[in-house]
Amino acid sequence: MTMLRQLAAASLAVGVIAAGRACAQDQAPAPAPLSPPALGPGGAAGAAPIAGDAVYKAFHEQAGIQRVIDDLIARVTTDPRIGQHFKGVNLKRLNLLLTQQVCYLTGGPCQYTGDDMRSAHAGLGLRNSDFNALAEDLQLAMDKEGVAFSAQNRLLAKLAPMQRQIVTK
Ligand code: HEM
Repeated sequence: MTMLRQLAAASLAVGVIAAGRACAQDQAPAPAPLSPPALGPGGAAGAAPIAGDAVYKAFHEQAGIQRVIDDLIARVTTDPRIGQHFKGVNLKRLNLLLTQQVCYLTGGPCQYTGDDMRSAHAGLGLRNSDFNALAEDLQLAMDKEGVAFSAQNRLLAKLAPMQRQIVTK
């Protein structure tokens, strides 16, 4: 493991919060007690996209991202540490939404159409160990695609703060 990758893994494990609150100055009325919290930059995708298209290109654009997500889903669903969480899940839909999300976050020409990260994972009772297992599977999938480590780390840095929304146990 290179130093950079160790750093990325460490930052994933720590899960720094980077999301701000959307400015709602022009939006009347004050939120009712049960309304969801304002989403940070990037809205439901959980983060603002990486600027420019260099990282998107390092993922080999849409086709490369699709291969990464196909491989990620094959890994997580058969991973003895976390596979049980995906039983009964619509994997076709999950594949589509993860592909959209990674395309968007890496600076590609995509919109994310799924739920925000807190809502999507609310009922799953996930732990830090689950999050780290998925992050490891993602690193293996990115390695298989031949994504440069610097680009891998840029994506991992976008995902790390989402740990606070995804882990509830
Ligand atoms: C940075 C880490 C993660 C990201 C970016 C991520 C992203 C997503 C996205 C985009 C969706 C679809 C949202 C929707 O249904 O509209 C989703 C759903 C889901 N995620 Fe994650 N996820 C992460 C971590 C995890 C972990 C650690 C697990 C379990 C080990 C997990 C399990 C699931 C499951 C089971 C669903 C489907 C929920 C359902 O359809 O009811 N996710 N995730």
